[in-house]
Amino acid sequence: MRIAQGAEAILEKEGNTVIKKRIAKSYRLTQIDESLRKFRTKREAKILCKVAIPAPKLLKQTSFDIEMEFIDGKKLSDVLDKDYTLAKQIGELTAKLHNQDIIHGDLTTSNMLLQGKTIFFIDFGLSFFSSKIEDKAVDIHLFKQALESRHHKVYEKALKEFFAGYQLANQHKEIITRFEKVEQRGRYKEKY
Ligand SMILES: Nc1ncnc2c1ncn2[C@@H]1O[C@H](COP(=O)(O)OP(=O)(O)OP(=O)(O)O)[C@@H](O)[C@H]1O
Ligand SMILES: [Mg+2]
Repeated sequence: MRIAQGAEAILEKEGNTVIKKRIAKSYRLTQIDESLRKFRTKREAKILCKVAIPAPKLLKQTSFDIEMEFIDGKKLSDVLDKDYTLAKQIGELTAKLHNQDIIHGDLTTSNMLLQGKTIFFIDFGLSFFSSKIEDKAVDIHLFKQALESRHHKVYEKALKEFFAGYQLANQHKEIITRFEKVEQRGRYKEKY
């Protein structure tokens, strides 16, 4: 059964597993398209194996497909407005991810699933390993933007919760200072 069709992939559920198939994009040159799909598939599989926060277990991997555990939960994007305090757990999980020097690369509430009281992170196709303060700050910047656009009603309260949770991150003070600079850079760009 098809459960989602994203920009890059088709997701199918079979029993208790999800198969994420990265599909060909005709607007990209075939060679570039194939290597990009292979790269993202490999990357996502690698991160799913290494990550120390709740995420679907990797079951199988081929060139363009990933088979993983099905998480029977709700998308955070559908529940955060009803309970903004969930953002604290998101902050804690992001901190743990960053402590492992993993940058998610697409931190949004539609890439998180709530099962019971546990939040699972998914969609690691744009993730990478980095210990740089800058990369961690940009990850947070992207999450903030996602909150602002998708959850404007609870945006400020949710962001506060997120930062309360993010205090678990090593060097969180330096990361937050850099995050503020990244934000100013954004504003500068908008202005000119
Ligand atoms: N392991 C899983 N268990 C349950 N649902 C899942 C799982 N993985 C993905 N989904 C559902 O499928 C949707 C799309 O998955 P995902 O975010 O990985 O794909 P995508 O956005 O198309 O990916 P990408 O941008 O990397 O190409 C998710 O928002 C979620 O609802
Ligand atoms: Mg996604």
